[in-house]
Amino acid sequence: MRSKILLISIFSIVIFGISGTTTCLFAEEAAQVEGEEEEKSELAILMKEIDKNYKATEEISGYYNYKDEEWKIIGDASAKLIELCKIAVKKFARPDDEKYQKLNKTMLEEAEKMHEVYERRDQVGALEDAQWQVRRLRQTCALCHKHLGIHLYPNLYPGHTDWGVK
Ligand code: HEC
Repeated sequence: MRSKILLISIFSIVIFGISGTTTCLFAEEAAQVEGEEEEKSELAILMKEIDKNYKATEEISGYYNYKDEEWKIIGDASAKLIELCKIAVKKFARPDDEKYQKLNKTMLEEAEKMHEVYERRDQVGALEDAQWQVRRLRQTCALCHKHLGIHLYPNLYPGHTDWGVK
């Protein structure tokens, strides 16, 4: 009788021991997955902000004339884009991917150029230049997403089939 109880207790210790270890292992694995997702969604959140500001400029890109109100959209969105692109370049660099690095920097440069246009908005041709910058920016988005095999459109941009990438 005694030995039976002893056996049962040893048995349960072993069982608890094993399940404890596996629980630990699972927890560790889950933590690892969570960590990866966190990093991924951080870039996704940044992209969403980039997207929002880009879209603000795109929405008015068919206008024949920009009044103060539209120029303000270009000015604000490009300033915000510069800020966001700087974070993208710094925080989400991919040193092992030359093309990615180049496109990441190009995105920042195109945003800076857009802001330069905003600053000379009273000059002749500024409207066309601003609209050109919207296209330059869009092409950079499309090239990087294409490079990575990310297919955001058409669900994000209904009606957009041509993103300037062939
Ligand atoms: C240098 C590369 C690069 C450039 C340039 C780039 N993207 Fe992205 N984009 C990514 C990567 C990588 C992801 C995937 C992020 C993730 O899910 O972790 C992404 C994802 C997105 C998403 C999806 C976010 C989500 O909710 O999952 C949107 C929207 C987006 N990009 C918009 C843009 C726009 C607009 C531009 C241009 C103004 C742009 N991107 C330029 C690399 C780039």
